Amino acid sequence: VRLDLVVIGAGRMGRAVLVAASRDPGIAVHAVVRRRPEAERLPDGIPCLGDVDAALARAAAGVVVDVAPGTGASDRIARVARAGWALVEGATGLDSGAEAALTEASRRVAVVVAPNLSPGAALQRRLLRVLAEAREPGWEAGILDRHHAGKRDAPSGTARLLAEILAPWGEVPVVSLRQGGVVGEHTVHAAGTEEEIVLTHRVFSRSVFAAGALRAARFAAAAAPGRYVMEDVLRSEGGGAPAPA
Ligand SMILES: NC(=O)c1ccc[n+]([C@@H]2O[C@H](COP(=O)([O-])OP(=O)(O)OC[C@H]3O[C@@H](n4cnc5c(N)ncnc54)[C@H](OP(=O)(O)O)[C@@H]3O)[C@@H](O)[C@H]2O)c1
Repeated sequence: VRLDLVVIGAGRMGRAVLVAASRDPGIAVHAVVRRRPEAERLPDGIPCLGDVDAALARAAAGVVVDVAPGTGASDRIARVARAGWALVEGATGLDSGAEAALTEASRRVAVVVAPNLSPGAALQRRLLRVLAEAREPGWEAGILDRHHAGKRDAPSGTARLLAEILAPWGEVPVVSLRQGGVVGEHTVHAAGTEEEIVLTHRVFSRSVFAAGALRAARFAAAAAPGRYVMEDVLRSEGGGAPAPA
């Protein structure tokens, strides 16, 4: 089945999604939306627009992959849902307005909310759920989130998810380092006085996020309206971790 896509964002992530999509003959990218549509041309001559509605008008329906910065996301989320397109929300740093827009959108269309699109990060969460349930007396946890210097939000969306899983341990400190070209790394330290467990997930290339975005898009294209997470996507393919409680 052909997958019809519109990509919002033409930066580091948007370009990685376009490269992955160009390698899949079953995917048609109808348009890319960015802030400055007049900026340099994209590969394959894909139309580059500054307006979400105009981009969605280029095909009857399909899936939007949103990998623009989280600020201001509520407006584009509402436009996507109004047009009846499914959504993979890959932006992080979403404000409460965007969260409300996602809830509203999921009443009309399938919405996959994935601040981390990599399957390995879903596995890290699964491992962490085991740890979160089995706290040893006196143990404390902390999270280290490392990303490249261009990342705007801190803590990362992934670090927030990890901290949520550790909620039974109380408020968990998160330290964010923004330096150099680090694509993405999250480490959970859980330490007692005499021993510790360290759980690290490290991404070598953005192509892993891009591949995850396309898997999430295929899932969203076929899913009933509702709000989903990466675990739902992986489970639908017969693998991955069980959905979080
Ligand atoms: N879910 C995941 O697994 C995952 C992984 C990595 C990153 N991310 C997230 O993806 C987002 C983008 O990251 P990035 O590194 O690609 O950023 P980036 O390189 O700075 O690119 C951002 C892109 O978004 C466009 N943009 C900015 N504001 C926009 C708006 N209001 N409407 C439409 N497009 C807009 C920019 O347009 P111009 O080019 O015209 O300026 C640019 O092309 C961030 O939220 C980041 O945290 C998610």
